[in-house]
Amino acid sequence: MATLLGIETSCDETAVAIVNNRQVLSSVVRSQIETHRHYGGVVPEVASRQHLEAVNPAITEALTQAQLSWADIDAIGATVAPGLVGALLVGLMAGKTLALVQNKAFLGVHHLEGHIYATYLDQPDLKPPFLCLLVSGGHTSLIHVKDCGVYGTVGQTRDDAAGEAFDKVARLLDLGYPGGPVIDRLAAQGNAKAFPLPEGRISLPGGGYHPYDSSFSGLKTAMLRLTQRLRTDLPAHVELPLADLAASFQATVAQSLTKRAIAAALDLGLGTIAVGGGVAANRGLRQTLTAAARDRGLQAVFPPLHLCTDNAAMIACAAADHFQRGHRSSLDLGVRSRLAL
Ligand code: KG4
Ligand code: ZN
Repeated sequence: MATLLGIETSCDETAVAIVNNRQVLSSVVRSQIETHRHYGGVVPEVASRQHLEAVNPAITEALTQAQLSWADIDAIGATVAPGLVGALLVGLMAGKTLALVQNKAFLGVHHLEGHIYATYLDQPDLKPPFLCLLVSGGHTSLIHVKDCGVYGTVGQTRDDAAGEAFDKVARLLDLGYPGGPVIDRLAAQGNAKAFPLPEGRISLPGGGYHPYDSSFSGLKTAMLRLTQRLRTDLPAHVELPLADLAASFQATVAQSLTKRAIAAALDLGLGTIAVGGGVAANRGLRQTLTAAARDRGLQAVFPPLHLCTDNAAMIACAAADHFQRGHRSSLDLGVRSRLAL
């Protein structure tokens, strides 16, 4: 059983973890959210600088937490794509340098493959094939997971990612950044049926709608119009019904994702839907998808909350599977801001 050290710096978390056979021995996540909150979103240059300051202490902390030394580590995995170029560079350079200095094998990991592997960490019995609903701040995809490194994207968003929609709607409602967790909290106190909202659908040339692709820009615009109307109509001393707005929005997103994931799983004959990415933490999505899957004789599995958002345990886990199969990356490997899975 290989012991892998993983490094993740694709966006605004500096994360380092050590994993052995899908068991997390340590996981350090140094979030930059407090810094980026002031700007209402991630500032790439600031992110790179903070990764640079945090990465070495995070590596030391991960080894200390796991009570391991370099002699116990078999290989190093680091995220190479997709993400912010400057941010990715910090983690990749740290990983490659340590691989060279400590004489370890090195593996570059696709960030989305990491999110797929997060679903394995809590479900050691989960085996391909299964369907992965990957919903993060940058991506919304339905992926047919056939084997390690063998993926087929069967559906995706045509515009905003689900997490991006949460973040933009939160900004619209002056709820701060990141939007997902705060909308999730507010929605728990609201009425999801208070405001009927449109589910974005993609028309097909021959008529009908695409069964797996989604769209969230229309929903975002509907939220903007609704909020503007309420702000105009409501007397000045009456506050926006934030909980009802959050609950209605969240239910529409959850329903849209659930419908497409169930359709794809049934059409492909897959019994399990594993959900990954930051939006997998959303309670509305967890409840809606779990119930709908059960009704159709399928099962929906979700990572624990701390493994939904960006972390390095998922990167180490993906790297471990590739390492066991004899895969290795060259130390010439460079980062890519975009890269298909
Ligand atoms: O996977 P992730 O940490 O980073 C990316 O790879 O993008 O996902 C971050 C996204 C953000 O858009 C954030 O608002 C969203 O995940 N998110 C949530 C929740 N927690 C995080 N969205 C809905 N409900 C949540 N509880
Ligand atoms: Zn992510």
